[in-house]
Amino acid sequence: MKKYLILALLLIFSLQNFAKDGYELWLDYRPIENSIMRSEADQLFSGIFFFGKNPTYEAIEKELQLAAPKMTGKAPVFSSERLNQTQIWLGTREELAQVLGLQNQIDIRNLGQDGYWMGPVVFQGKTYFTIVGNRPVGVLYGVFDWLKSLQSGSFDLNKVKMESPKIQLRMLNHWDNLDRTVERGYAGFSIWDWHRLPGYIDPRYIDYARANASIGINAVSLTNVNANARILTSDFMKKAMVLADIFRPYGIKVFLTARFSAPIEIGGLKTADPLDPEVIAFWKKKTDEMYQHIPDFGGYLVKANSEGQPGPHEYQRTHAEGANMLAAALAPHGGVLIWRAFVYSHEIDEDRHKQANLEFVPLDGKFRENVIIQVKNGAIDFQPREPFHPLFGAVKQTNLGVEFQITQEYLGQATQLVFLSPMWEEVLRSKTFRPTPTSTVAGIVDGSDSGQRLTLMAGVSNIGTDRNWTGHLFGQANWYSFGRLTWDPYLSSEQIAEEWTKLTFGQNPENLVKIKEIMLDSHEAAVNYMTPLGLHHIMGWDHHYGPGPWVTGGRADWTALYYHRADSLGIGFDRTFTGSKALEQYAPEIIRAWSDSEQIPEKYLLWFHHLSWDYTMKSGKTLWKEIGLHYDQGVKSARKMKSTWETLNGAIDPVQYSHVSQLLEIQVQEAEWWRNACLLYFQSISKRPFPSEIEQPEGDLEYYKSLRFPTAPGIRPKW
Ligand code: GCU
Repeated sequence: MKKYLILALLLIFSLQNFAKDGYELWLDYRPIENSIMRSEADQLFSGIFFFGKNPTYEAIEKELQLAAPKMTGKAPVFSSERLNQTQIWLGTREELAQVLGLQNQIDIRNLGQDGYWMGPVVFQGKTYFTIVGNRPVGVLYGVFDWLKSLQSGSFDLNKVKMESPKIQLRMLNHWDNLDRTVERGYAGFSIWDWHRLPGYIDPRYIDYARANASIGINAVSLTNVNANARILTSDFMKKAMVLADIFRPYGIKVFLTARFSAPIEIGGLKTADPLDPEVIAFWKKKTDEMYQHIPDFGGYLVKANSEGQPGPHEYQRTHAEGANMLAAALAPHGGVLIWRAFVYSHEIDEDRHKQANLEFVPLDGKFRENVIIQVKNGAIDFQPREPFHPLFGAVKQTNLGVEFQITQEYLGQATQLVFLSPMWEEVLRSKTFRPTPTSTVAGIVDGSDSGQRLTLMAGVSNIGTDRNWTGHLFGQANWYSFGRLTWDPYLSSEQIAEEWTKLTFGQNPENLVKIKEIMLDSHEAAVNYMTPLGLHHIMGWDHHYGPGPWVTGGRADWTALYYHRADSLGIGFDRTFTGSKALEQYAPEIIRAWSDSEQIPEKYLLWFHHLSWDYTMKSGKTLWKEIGLHYDQGVKSARKMKSTWETLNGAIDPVQYSHVSQLLEIQVQEAEWWRNACLLYFQSISKRPFPSEIEQPEGDLEYYKSLRFPTAPGIRPKW
């Protein structure tokens, strides 16, 4: 009888779960498929003992109350005594040691502040499944990992698992404005409801914190890097304080963006000169006030002297002088100052690729200890593919963090399925050859090669008020994957895709193979139909959506013509010694290999070389033909993604199926749009015949030039 009741309950829960609108993200707990695992979970949930009491354990308790009924059909039981009824022990090492002297069985001292140990512990002949951290948040991470293992069918009751993150600050950057528009956001408005804060708490804040904690994210910057000084007023501090209070049990620290001219705008001063005593006093007072509201405030994130944002250069001061002044105000409170290396100014008459190194390399060693320079993955701007940023490896005494863009500004925004993990993996694994011959970007960022003690990985968020958070369901995979890589930048995209797919679509092996294939092919597909072979920045101006290789504006505007440099003879940006010499900023090993058009990986060819349309590629075909074939391959891959998805009809949840299916239809059309527009344009310049193997485009170049993308006000850049 009891058995039937459980089956009936499981059926009800699975039906309830049927219509999936994506809100639950990867925390959409479902009945455990494997019956042995289900009964193990059933037993474990029947006696949970916490060795302490604190807000993080309360958060864990709530998570278990949510998960257990969905997974097993029964509510969890929390025991008040640690032995008889108990099956699971949860606590910090210190808590466990006080009571039972268990510290010798579980040695986790090397696992740092956020690590955890999970596995069976035998005490007086009975085995307890135990999750231990050095701090309560470690226990939280362990519990999420355990729940994920149940959900994805990989839980092993007898296995010991130890984990600790390789990066200290695992951070989301929201580009959210105070009026709730989101710069480069494609999933609705900002989830921060400033108007109704601090009085009204949207339940989304808690779900947001849960989702982040479940993938190890421990820091968020709430506001746009194109900052508004009002966020630093007392009124807004009170609002931010409420969010910080909600996030704290989940181990998440709040950062805010600091507008460099705030002393003038909200402080009534005449200057923002970082060496002016009144300015210094303003920031000290502001920062002290911030810590009164948010005692564990993370620090400031600053974009200065870039795209019109104010900064120290207005006062003939350096980035170091600007950053250090703010860092000094934060230092007594243990705060961190994050200063962005994305400097982009129209004033300098140089290849934009070179600007960050030109400004930051001479300042190496001049930044305070609590400053970290946040460097975009590539030197231009989150293009579909970029070689790694030359600042990685070029400085020895400066903390460097990496910044990725999760929101798909240049990668199809919210209509396209592009799994970004392979792109990030490519960057993280890139060999920098500095400071050691085997150094990689990951090794610099996590400190193992660079020796830096302060480490950071930041991702520009793709989250908004859309019911499914990210607009496109597969945008969730990018959020998930970013979090996982901040925890361990050496994880493979395949593993991450597998985890996310199981958590989102269940464990059916055939579905898994297909969905993973779609995900893992998607980035290369997008590169092919947008900007193959090292082309870059040829999208529509301003909105950055569809193709715009014809977009001009003269040298100063750095628009498409400036970047592809196509003329009747050839195409590509010469950044070698005969051109802008940007290649000079890399290690000698890279300079040697990449300055040779025969040796450079073809994926970066036109990034660094200007070559004749008739240049012979490795395939033996001409460059013009290869460009055509790559664009065409992109379209073919998009079509394949769509046809593979169609075979999932009936095999996965119908709401999920239809959502993605409709968007893939749009993606195929957009891939054709990119291919046709770019090839017709390049053909008009090169005057070469259209490669015969490629589908002849419908419409002419004028038609593609006339297409306009309607831009919503919220996604326009401010500058
Ligand atoms: C890109 C983006 C801007 C953003 C900038 C930045 O240029 O288009 O909207 O402000 O990056 O990273 O600061």
